Amino acid sequence: MTTENAPASPQARVLIFDTTLRDGEQSPGATMTHDEKLEIAGLLDEMGVDIIEAGFPIASEGDFNAVSEIARRSRNSTICGLARANYKDIDRCWEAVKHARSPRIHTFIGTSPLHRAIPNLDMDQMAERIHDTVTHARNLCDNVQWSPMDATRTEPDYLCRVVEIAIKAGATTINIPDTVGYTYPFESAKIIRMLLERVPGADKIIFATHCHNDLGMATANSLAAVEAGARQIECTINGLGERAGNTALEEVVMALRVRNDILPYQTGIDTTKIMHLSRRVSTVSGFPVQFNKAIVGKNAFLHESGIHQDGVLKNVETFEIMRPEDIGLTQKNLTMGKHSGRAALRAKLKELGFDLADNQLNDVFVRFKALADRKKEVYDDDLVALMKDQETSTGSDTLQVKRLRVVCGTEGPREAELTLLIDGVEHAIDATGDGPVDAAFNAVDMLYPHQAELQLYQVNAVTEGTDAQATVSVRISEDGRIATGSSADTDTVVASVKAYVNALNRLIERRKKSAPGDDVKTVDYRSST
Ligand code: KIV
Ligand code: ZN
Repeated sequence: MTTENAPASPQARVLIFDTTLRDGEQSPGATMTHDEKLEIAGLLDEMGVDIIEAGFPIASEGDFNAVSEIARRSRNSTICGLARANYKDIDRCWEAVKHARSPRIHTFIGTSPLHRAIPNLDMDQMAERIHDTVTHARNLCDNVQWSPMDATRTEPDYLCRVVEIAIKAGATTINIPDTVGYTYPFESAKIIRMLLERVPGADKIIFATHCHNDLGMATANSLAAVEAGARQIECTINGLGERAGNTALEEVVMALRVRNDILPYQTGIDTTKIMHLSRRVSTVSGFPVQFNKAIVGKNAFLHESGIHQDGVLKNVETFEIMRPEDIGLTQKNLTMGKHSGRAALRAKLKELGFDLADNQLNDVFVRFKALADRKKEVYDDDLVALMKDQETSTGSDTLQVKRLRVVCGTEGPREAELTLLIDGVEHAIDATGDGPVDAAFNAVDMLYPHQAELQLYQVNAVTEGTDAQATVSVRISEDGRIATGSSADTDTVVASVKAYVNALNRLIERRKKSAPGDDVKTVDYRSST
C-alpha cells in the first residue's frame, strides 16, 4: 500500500518528502556513486519516507540512470524527480520516474524579483510559463509538484497569483521553498495561512514546506508551516544540503513525535531506522555529523555533568525527552573484547544495522580481532567506525597503503616512509613535511602525482581515551570534481593517509566514469528555467 495514499488515521498525517539524494547530494563534495544512491533510496523506502526525491534527471547521465533505477526498485515510496520549467527537463524527468509504482514530477521556477530577472521574464510571461509547464507535466503524470523557488522573498500578491495558476494547471502539491533560509517561523506560518485563505482551490491540494538552514531555523520554520496547514515536509538525512543544509528529517520527525501533545500529526517513519540511515548518509556523502547535532549527534544522548548523570540514573525522564532506542541507538555499553567470537560479532553488528553475509563477516572479523588486540575496550562506535572503514576500501582500488612509518617529535625533520601499491605494483619513497601527516601526504603525492587540491582534512576521536580510534575525513577537488575519503585507525597518521588514498581512489573512479555514466552535473538547477 502506498503510504502517500494511506487512509486517514485518527490523527492527521504529515507526509515526509526526503530530498537527500537531490538537494542533499547537490551539496559540494557530497556526490554519491550510483550504488550508494540505490542503497540510500532502499533504506529511505524501508524507513517509511512517503516521497523520495531521487535526483535531477536532466543534470547528467548519472543522475538520470540513478533516478530510473530507484524508480524501478521502489516498493512503498513515491519516486520524484526534479525538472526546471521547460518541456525538455520535464520530459527527461518523466522518462526516469515513470518506472515507479507511484511516480511524481517536481517542476519549479524562481518567482522572487531576483530570480525573475535571471530568465528576464516579466510577471505575466512567467505566469504563462508556469501554466504551460505545469500543464505539460500534468499531461504526462497525474502526480505533479510545483515550487515557486525563493517563495519567501516573492511578493505575496504575486505568490498567490502563481500558486493559483499552478493549481488550475493541475499541480497536486504546491511546495513553498525558503531557498536561502531567510524566513522566521511566524512568517513561514503566515505564508501558508495566506495561501490557504486567498488562493481558490488551495483546500484541494497539499502544501509542502522546504526550508534551508542558513539562519539555523529550518526545523522551526517547517514545523511552523505544519501548524499553519502544510502537510508535507521536505527534508534530508542529517540536514545534508548546500551551505548550512536543509531541514533535518530526524529533527522534524522526532519533534512531531515528542511534542505530539501540541502538534498532533503523525508521520509514517519507523524512527528506529534513523540512526543507521544517519550513519550511512554520513559515510557515503563524506560529511561527518557534528557531535552536538540534535537527535543523531554523538553527544545527543550523553550526560556528562554530575547533576545530569545523577538525575538520569534515578529517572531517565529527568533529562531525556526521547529514548535512544527510539532512533535505533543501542546501549553504549562495553560491547566486545578480544575473546568475543564470530556469532557475537554478527549479532552486535546486526543490532547496529549491519546485516552481513558470511564472507563479509569473515573480513570484518579479522579486522575486529586486530583492533581488539590494539585497543583494550571495543565500543559500539568503534564497530561502526570499523564498518565504515571496511566499506571505503576495496581490493580493486588503484591505490592501496602497504606500509607506513613516520618519524616525528620536537626535533626535525619529520619524515614518512611509505609503500603504496599502485595497480598492484609496489612503490616506496621517503618524504619530509611540517609534521608526520604532512610528510605522509607528501609521500603519497610523490608516488602518485596528481592535480587535486586538498579542501578539507578533519580528525575526530571515536571514543574516549588515548587509545581511541581516530576517524579522518578528507575532501579533494580536481577540475570541478570533488571526492571525499574517510578512514579509522588507532594510529591517527595511518587513518589520515588511508583517508587521503581513499579520496584519491574515488576521484580516479570518477574520472573513469566521466565519459559515459558521467556524475559531473552538466546543468545548474539554480537558473530554474
Ligand atoms: O531550495 C529550493 O528552492 C529548491 C527548489 C528546487 C525546490 O531546492
Ligand atoms: Zn532546496
